[in-house]
Amino acid sequence: MCIVHRLRLGKQSVAGYNFRAMLALGNLKLSVPFLQAPLSGYSDYAMRRLALDFGAPLTFSGVMLAKSAAHPKFLRKSHFRPHEDEHPVGAQILGDDPEVMAAAAKALEAAGYDMIDLNFACPAPKVLRGGRGGYLLKEPDTVMQIVRRVRDAVKCPVTMKLRTGYDSSKLSYDHFYRIVSDASDQGVDALTIHARTVVQKFTGEVDWPLLAEIKRQFPKTILIGSGDLFDPHTSVERLTTTKLDGLLIARGAIGNPWIYAGLQAVLKGEPMPPSPNLIEQAEVMRRHFEMICDLYAPIKAIRYFRKFLVRYCRLHPQRKQAQKTLLVANNKSQLFDGIEKWYANNHNELTHDY
Ligand SMILES: Cc1cc2nc3c(=O)[nH]c(=O)nc-3n(C[C@H](O)[C@H](O)[C@H](O)COP(=O)(O)O)c2cc1C
Repeated sequence: MCIVHRLRLGKQSVAGYNFRAMLALGNLKLSVPFLQAPLSGYSDYAMRRLALDFGAPLTFSGVMLAKSAAHPKFLRKSHFRPHEDEHPVGAQILGDDPEVMAAAAKALEAAGYDMIDLNFACPAPKVLRGGRGGYLLKEPDTVMQIVRRVRDAVKCPVTMKLRTGYDSSKLSYDHFYRIVSDASDQGVDALTIHARTVVQKFTGEVDWPLLAEIKRQFPKTILIGSGDLFDPHTSVERLTTTKLDGLLIARGAIGNPWIYAGLQAVLKGEPMPPSPNLIEQAEVMRRHFEMICDLYAPIKAIRYFRKFLVRYCRLHPQRKQAQKTLLVANNKSQLFDGIEKWYANNHNELTHDY
């Protein structure tokens, strides 16, 4: 089911503001300026494939530890390699050693990934304790050594993901600013910024005004914004008010691939497609689960799918009851019976607008 795919938009007018909808990441030219985020524990092939089918022009793997990805055995597992029908797809890596990051980037490019994204954003305590991810925002020199070494190692575009600093101190901001400035000078293909600090994790306001200011100061740098993008209208409004080059769709797409069809429509100035009815929701849930079954053993598949089910159920008018049935399914036939029971009647009174 290919709903919308790779539309050519050219120059568009949204909310009275003109922008070029095309997004160029090095040699990758994307028809629309939004991407499916790297989402550890979620953005496997199944989620990525659905995102592409609904209109995301590029998706990412979840973050991979560079030390693992650089190991020759790692990419023998099909799970970590891109599938033939999902290009372009980016690989994201995490590490603190420029040589290891470069080796991982090289291996991932050879395995077929179209772009390498460097993670300087992860706020997980274990990652910070290891001096990786968001911790490295305290060490602009190390960040730039990694960037340079990785760029020398691969031919594909290299992008980086960061937050607006480690914490809200002046020193953190100075480090953040220096990284943006140096990365711009080095011609990094894009910077994706989750506009919160590392210590904020997912709390507090997303600082979109700061991203607008950064874009004003670095007009030639491709800047992609991230943070609390849950619906197409708000997302496109963020793009137009900040004049950023693109957006990263993350939690807003979990159990809600329809967000991409909505984004495509809003960007073109068209009416939003109708919210998916229950029959369409059921079809996508079944398809998603079938793909997951191709990736994982049956017990793992059903357990893994539960976190997606919780999100899919948000669109159901009787969310709690539907979720209760689906979450106790222990195998595919129980799950599909539950879907049949709760999604067979096509009510259109949905609780949630995507
Ligand atoms: C479950 C989960 C997993 C994530 N995994 C990654 C990851 O692997 N790499 C990364 O750069 N960001 C990761 N993120 C951060 C997102 O890419 C995004 O920047 C963040 O969620 C803010 O966007 P949102 O508020 O629209 O979700 C993750 C976020 C969540 C919620």
